[in-house]
Amino acid sequence: MNTELLMSDATHFRIDYVINPYMDTSVQPDARAAVSEHDAIAAAHLAAGRTVHRMASAPECPDMVYTANGAWVCGDRAVLGDPPAARAAEIPYFRSWLKENGIDVFDAPYSFSGQGDTLACGDLLLAGYGQRTDRRMHDVLADLTGHQVVALRTAGEEWYDLDLAVAVIDEGTLAYYPGALEAESVGVLRSLGLELIEVGTEEARAFALNLISDGRTVTMTTGAPRLAATLRERGATVVELDTAQLRKGGGGVRCTALTLDNPVPAGGR
Ligand code: ARG
Repeated sequence: MNTELLMSDATHFRIDYVINPYMDTSVQPDARAAVSEHDAIAAAHLAAGRTVHRMASAPECPDMVYTANGAWVCGDRAVLGDPPAARAAEIPYFRSWLKENGIDVFDAPYSFSGQGDTLACGDLLLAGYGQRTDRRMHDVLADLTGHQVVALRTAGEEWYDLDLAVAVIDEGTLAYYPGALEAESVGVLRSLGLELIEVGTEEARAFALNLISDGRTVTMTTGAPRLAATLRERGATVVELDTAQLRKGGGGVRCTALTLDNPVPAGGR
């Protein structure tokens, strides 16, 4: 899992509007630092043996560095994101790229944060709602890919996407921050029979969970040494990268890559 990734670039990354609590138009990313941060993430994926597909960011799309929100891809099907209006101009670029690459593309009938709110874990699809994704999207996703949806509601704007609150480490292991989920959703997560690693408040706020794991190598931010140590103790190779510029837009490592090789459930597509 997570070995085929679609990334764009940080060339046009800036804060033009505020659609999450981390963004502030008076705190702009340093352009050169942002590009090198993004380059380092891409290089780390390649060094881990992953394939990085590229899509150029568009000048009118200052958030397009976060490709994760463009769609949710499973097998030869994809559902496009339906983001806040400020990001709507990104979606046609994702439609074109996915179509050109042989993927059947579906429109989201309701608001949908793409992979920001969808984390595949084997046959399960952990799916966020309540912020950027309308819960009615869950049935649409289940119908299209055959996943068993686990609906998780994040607790407030700070956790506007599920990929800031929960991370899939491997098919049997999740990491999560309980404070980022509503109590009922914490219960749902704990009942899945998966191994759970709990992350503390400070590390969760540093976007510890916005990571990419292929089951062997975990690529994550430098801001979460305790989670990194836990993962190493469990035998993972952990690569920690600076994400200070990406954070100004409210994103981290995982937000910059759209996964193209999500597991397709047996009997699904
Ligand atoms: N500024 C972007 C937004 O608010 C950040 C998106 C980060 N992506 C993610 N998957 N969490 O939409």
